[in-house]
Amino acid sequence: MASTPALLLLVLLMLFANETTAETNHTHLIPIGSTISPTGKNTSWSSRSGLFAFGFYPHGNSYAVGIWLLTQPKHTIVWTYHPYSPSMSSNSTLRLTKEDGLLLLQENEDPEFLIPLYFLHQAKVEVASASMLDSGNFVLYDKNFSMLWSSFGDPSDTILGGQNLTGGMGLVSSVSQSDHSSGHFLLSRQLDEHLAACRVNSTCEPEDAYWAKNTYFEGYGYLQLSLSIEGSLCLKDYSSGSELECLASSKNLTDKSKNATFIYRATLDEDGDFRLYAHQFEGNTSSGVQTLWKAVEGDKCQVPLCGLNSYCFIKSDKVMCQCYPGFIPIKSGGNDTRFLDCEQNHSKDNCESIEDPTMMYNMTSLKDIYWGGSPYLVVPIEMETCKKSCRKDCDCRAVLYKSGICEKYKLPLLYGRSSKDASMTAFVKMPSGIVLSPTSNQTALSPTKPCVFVDDKRSLIMILSLTLGWISFFGLVFVLYIFIIYRHQVHSWVYKCYAAGQLNKLVADDEGEDVDWKILERMVKLGLWCVQDKPSLRPTMKDVILMLEGLKDIPVPPSPAFFVE
Ligand SMILES: *[C@@H]1O[C@H](CO)[C@@H](O)[C@H](O)[C@H]1NC(C)=O
Ligand SMILES: *[C@@H]1O[C@H](CO)[C@@H](O)[C@H](O)[C@H]1NC(C)=O
Ligand SMILES: *[C@@H]1O[C@H](CO)[C@@H](O)[C@H](O)[C@H]1NC(C)=O
Ligand SMILES: *[C@@H]1O[C@H](CO)[C@@H](O)[C@H](O)[C@H]1NC(C)=O
Ligand SMILES: *[C@@H]1O[C@H](CO)[C@@H](O)[C@H](O)[C@H]1NC(C)=O
Ligand SMILES: *[C@@H]1O[C@H](CO)[C@@H](O)[C@H](O)[C@H]1NC(C)=O
Ligand SMILES: *[C@@H]1O[C@H](CO)[C@@H](O)[C@H](O)[C@H]1NC(C)=O
Ligand SMILES: *[C@@H]1O[C@H](CO)[C@@H](O)[C@H](O)[C@H]1NC(C)=O
Ligand SMILES: *[C@@H]1O[C@H](CO)[C@@H](O)[C@H](O)[C@H]1NC(C)=O
Ligand SMILES: *[C@@H]1O[C@H](CO)[C@@H](O)[C@H](O)[C@H]1NC(C)=O
Ligand SMILES: *[C@@H]1O[C@H](CO)[C@@H](O)[C@H](O)[C@H]1NC(C)=O
Ligand SMILES: *[C@@H]1O[C@H](CO)[C@@H](O)[C@H](O)[C@H]1NC(C)=O
Repeated sequence: MASTPALLLLVLLMLFANETTAETNHTHLIPIGSTISPTGKNTSWSSRSGLFAFGFYPHGNSYAVGIWLLTQPKHTIVWTYHPYSPSMSSNSTLRLTKEDGLLLLQENEDPEFLIPLYFLHQAKVEVASASMLDSGNFVLYDKNFSMLWSSFGDPSDTILGGQNLTGGMGLVSSVSQSDHSSGHFLLSRQLDEHLAACRVNSTCEPEDAYWAKNTYFEGYGYLQLSLSIEGSLCLKDYSSGSELECLASSKNLTDKSKNATFIYRATLDEDGDFRLYAHQFEGNTSSGVQTLWKAVEGDKCQVPLCGLNSYCFIKSDKVMCQCYPGFIPIKSGGNDTRFLDCEQNHSKDNCESIEDPTMMYNMTSLKDIYWGGSPYLVVPIEMETCKKSCRKDCDCRAVLYKSGICEKYKLPLLYGRSSKDASMTAFVKMPSGIVLSPTSNQTALSPTKPCVFVDDKRSLIMILSLTLGWISFFGLVFVLYIFIIYRHQVHSWVYKCYAAGQLNKLVADDEGEDVDWKILERMVKLGLWCVQDKPSLRPTMKDVILMLEGLKDIPVPPSPAFFVE
């Protein structure tokens, strides 16, 4: 009946908040009907210790709702409600209600459920009280003191002692120390089992991550990141509580006075580094903070602090960003050049200019600079051929040349930084002027033609094999997917053929005579690697390109589990 989904919701709810009554002293409860407002008498609810508070804090010209630690001279914000757009007017009010949890009331606006308790109604659960706990966790209780919601379950940029970062959770850095809106960096667990830090707008593939930690441990599965009350930042198995690896601890704490209380927090800071801090309190008076650990050691440019088409360098110990030659800043950001985004300073798009053959390009070499991301094409050719092929290729905007390998890049160029690696040369394509040619009208390409220029037969094969490779590769993945579904009927389908070196059997029905068997073999091998059960065995995107190109040997794949009878 109708109660079944409600029961399910209730169970779900309890699962999400199964940390029941960890603190048994319920003398510091916020009763139903309590209100706070930014300018009223009560602006926040504080914890029993007085060290933490939940409520309104100034945010630019308006207010935001959050939790802070009462440090001096400034409070430390450890949680923010709705960091994607935290601003609230001075007329807002927060009210603790039985049926709707925490309600945000703003003038001339519908009430907003501050905390996602929509399902409270269906589950027929009622809030009985709330509490700002001494751990820094803000919780809503039912009448049996089961937690219905906790701020620990929905972190912003910080985890506190006693808090865990589990699979579905991520941290997003703040814009700055004074603006706790969501900023530029993300820390979360990625599909490849790593806890990874990357730019928020990237896809957070392995090549996007500037810091990563494996969280998969054989025999345990995925571990969560836990910060203990005592200040150890460790990878822990949730069910057994075993610590498998610790990143940092309070052992290095200096000046540990006997009477002091320590509050630990791990924060993904606005500069992208992930740091462990210890705040020291004597009584309720804050007496300093120490940084115990940081994730990124050494060169600050390891963190992608520069935006699109700009590169990072250090000048008098400060991180600076600069546009590549031929690019200009999209908007000038004063003297803090971090996060600079740049665009081409010539309006003509590449492909457009190729159709207009009067446009000529130069390859400008950049000293000691390189960038990251994925090239769209990797070809083993001479440097001059590499430059030439980029000049003629409308997709190509820049190349990295290293030890006989030409990596061609489209825009935008990402993760640029200065480099001391002399064996690598970077070239950026720049328009160099107008050349009038009598045959120009004949050589112009029609807009529907693909913009592919080929220098020699070898490159043609490379390009064709890559194109064919991707099509076949996705085709193969799809086919293998279908294959998995029907594995009971036909599962002795592909691996045996491959193992027997008889790939042509697989395409017997196709018009297969023109297929290069070597390439096909590579693709099938690669396909088999890409469908390995263990994600750690699967190759990275970069490896896939190199392997398809034949620049990297493809080892013989292990037989996937489903091939074993
Ligand atoms: C509970 O809190 C009250 C008020 O702060 C305190 O007096 C009491 O000792 C606490 N009890 C326990 C068991 O911690
Ligand atoms: C403000 O808080 C005090 C105690 O914390 C409470 O007695 C009082 O009713 C509150 N005022 C309002 C308007 O909620
Ligand atoms: C700090 O503690 C003292 C004494 O215990 C108390 O008078 C004072 O109000 C407290 N301050 C805060 C901010 O809680
Ligand atoms: C707050 O409310 C008052 C009167 O109710 C109004 O005059 C004022 O403009 C409001 N302020 C904001 C920021 O909405
Ligand atoms: C609270 O506890 C009582 C007795 O253990 C139980 O009957 C009731 O269902 C519980 N209520 C909730 C909302 O969990
Ligand atoms: C991410 O992309 C969105 C949408 O394009 C944009 O509004 C936002 O400013 C970007 N964030 C950063 C940090 O670049
Ligand atoms: C964090 O995980 C540990 C086990 O590793 C568990 O004991 C603890 O209750 C969890 N804390 C929260 C707030 O869920
Ligand atoms: C503690 O300090 C030592 C040396 O000062 C350092 O080698 C070690 O990495 C530090 N440990 C942590 C967890 O920061
Ligand atoms: C610790 O606190 C007690 C009581 O407040 C005080 O007598 C003692 O001197 C303090 N010790 C230190 C090392 O500060
Ligand atoms: C920018 O430069 C001006 C003047 O040179 C200086 O007053 C200001 O503090 C600088 N701002 C930053 C963020 O460095
Ligand atoms: C482009 O190259 C030509 C010939 O190499 C040279 O004359 C011209 O000055 C270059 N233009 C730019 C903008 O570098
Ligand atoms: C190229 O073609 C355009 C019209 O399509 C014509 O106006 C122009 O004169 C031609 N230029 C040359 C160099 O033939």
